This record gives sequence, C-alpha cells and structure tokens, in this order.
Amino acid sequence: MKWLTHWNLSDPPFGKDIADQNLWVPSSRKRVVDSLVEACHERSHALLVGEPGVGKTCVLRALRHQLPQAGFRLTYCHNATLGRRDFYRHLCQALDLTPKATAAAVFYAISDHVKALGSERVHPVFLLDEAHLLHQDVLEHLHILSNYEWDARPLLSLVLVGLPETQQRLLLAKNRSLWSRIHTRLSIGEAQAKDTAEYIAHRLKHAGTEREVFSSDAIALLHEASEGQLRELDRLATTCLKLGAKHKLRSIDRDLVARAKREDAEDDEH
Ligand SMILES: Nc1ncnc2c1ncn2[C@@H]1O[C@H](COP(=O)(O)OP(=O)(O)O)[C@@H](O)[C@H]1O
Ligand SMILES: [Mg+2]
Repeated sequence: MKWLTHWNLSDPPFGKDIADQNLWVPSSRKRVVDSLVEACHERSHALLVGEPGVGKTCVLRALRHQLPQAGFRLTYCHNATLGRRDFYRHLCQALDLTPKATAAAVFYAISDHVKALGSERVHPVFLLDEAHLLHQDVLEHLHILSNYEWDARPLLSLVLVGLPETQQRLLLAKNRSLWSRIHTRLSIGEAQAKDTAEYIAHRLKHAGTEREVFSSDAIALLHEASEGQLRELDRLATTCLKLGAKHKLRSIDRDLVARAKREDAEDDEH
C-alpha cells in the first residue's frame, strides 16, 4: 500500500488487528481491566458498559491477556442475538461440556459437572459481548446460572459487555435479581482530548513511526470530530493519512483533517 510507504509505516496504524500486547491501556482503562481481573479471581460477575466504539471489546482482549491461562477458561460470545438453544451450546463450550440440545439437558450436565468439580482449579469465565442484544429469555436463564453455586461461590463468572442500555434493561423489575448478583459494575467513557493524543501516538508507534505525523491542531480537530469514540477516530485518521500521502504531505494539519471529514461525510451519503 502506497500510503503506508509514504508515511514509513509497516502496517495500517488504525486498523482493527491489534496484538494484545500492543493495546493502548492508559491508567484509566487499566483500572477497568484490573477490576475485571479481580472479579474473575473472586469468581463473581461483572458488567461493562459504554457507547459504541469507545473500546469495550478491546478491554476484554486486555482482560484475556492479563488473566493467567492456567487458572481460567475464557469463552467469548459476541452473537448475543442467539436463541436459548445456541446460547446453551456456547455455554457448554465454556464449561467444557459436550453440547446438549435442550435447556434441561444442559442443567443435568451442569449438575454432573458441579459434582465432579471438587478438585477443579480452572474457573470458567463467560464473556458475553453485545449484551444489550440478549433475548429476554436468555437473560432470565443467566440469572439461574448466576445463582448456581458450588461451595457458596458461583460456578462460573459472567462478564456482560454492552451499550449503556444494557444497564437500563438489568434495572427493570424482571431482571433485578440478576442485576443484584452483578457486583462489579463498570463503564468506559469517551476518550478525553489528552487520551486522543496519546492514543494516536501509541498506535502510530506500533505501526512503525514516532514522528509527529499529526500537528497538535489536527489532533484537536480529530478529537472534536470523533467525539471520543475510537472507532470513529480510526476511520478519520486513516482517511487523513491516505489523503496526505496522495498530496505528498510531510505532516497532517487541521485543514487536511477538515477535508478528510468532508470526504468521509460524502462517502456516507453515497
Ligand atoms: N485499548 C485499545 N487499544 C488499541 N485500540 C483500541 C483500544 N480500544 C479501542 N481501540 C480501537 O477502537 C476500535 C473500536 O474498539 P472496540 O473495542 O471494538 O469498541 P466497542 O467494543 O466499545 O464498540 C478498535 O477496532 C480499535 O481500533
Ligand atoms: Mg464491541
């Protein structure tokens, strides 16, 4: 790709492919990751909410990177629109059980599993991403599962991740009992101006350059335009890099960001 060569980059800096060890984890996000790690160690449940594109799924990746592999078995499920049956298939996987076709069969299998669990040292963690999309009947089953205890500790940790409305749903009377079992309640907010600058530098560095590719004015406008949502920022910053390369620029200023923003908006219209 020509634009990468122009900027002396080895990879697209704002792409989705990020090695776990290259994730951007400033202290504010580290606190969220640490709380999730702690919840898993305590065998309790957690909820993480935030607006689209703020970096929730990346926090889960950081969690996976941080939890010792030997003590935990993580299962990630992001197709939250699953019906109950498919949901149980995933769950069986989380618990290392042979998939069962019916809810009843799963419960028998889980009971057996609990009996056999005595010496088990591996704790299953079920990561449910896009949890705002969960069907109500699945949510109700989650409650039963979260209740299922062995030795007064839950059999598995549920980590629900979703848009802010996930929390509103859990607050409804019919879901209150599940809500009351989720002790770790976290949210990540939009990136602040300082975060945006740090994030851009971090990602450029991991793509091969420590040069100030974006002027500080350009970064200020990128921040304003992306409203603290990293996915938006990725998109706009990439357009800027491509446009800058096309015009053989040495760095990206505010005007170019404004132009990239217009081009992105036009693309959206088509
Ligand atoms: N901690 C992070 N480190 C590096 N990139 C990130 C991080 N958080 C978010 N991003 C970038 O923002 C994009 C959206 O993040 P994601 O976690 O998918 O958001 P959400 O799950 O909240 O919608 C990712 O594809 C990635 O490029
Ligand atoms: Mg996500």
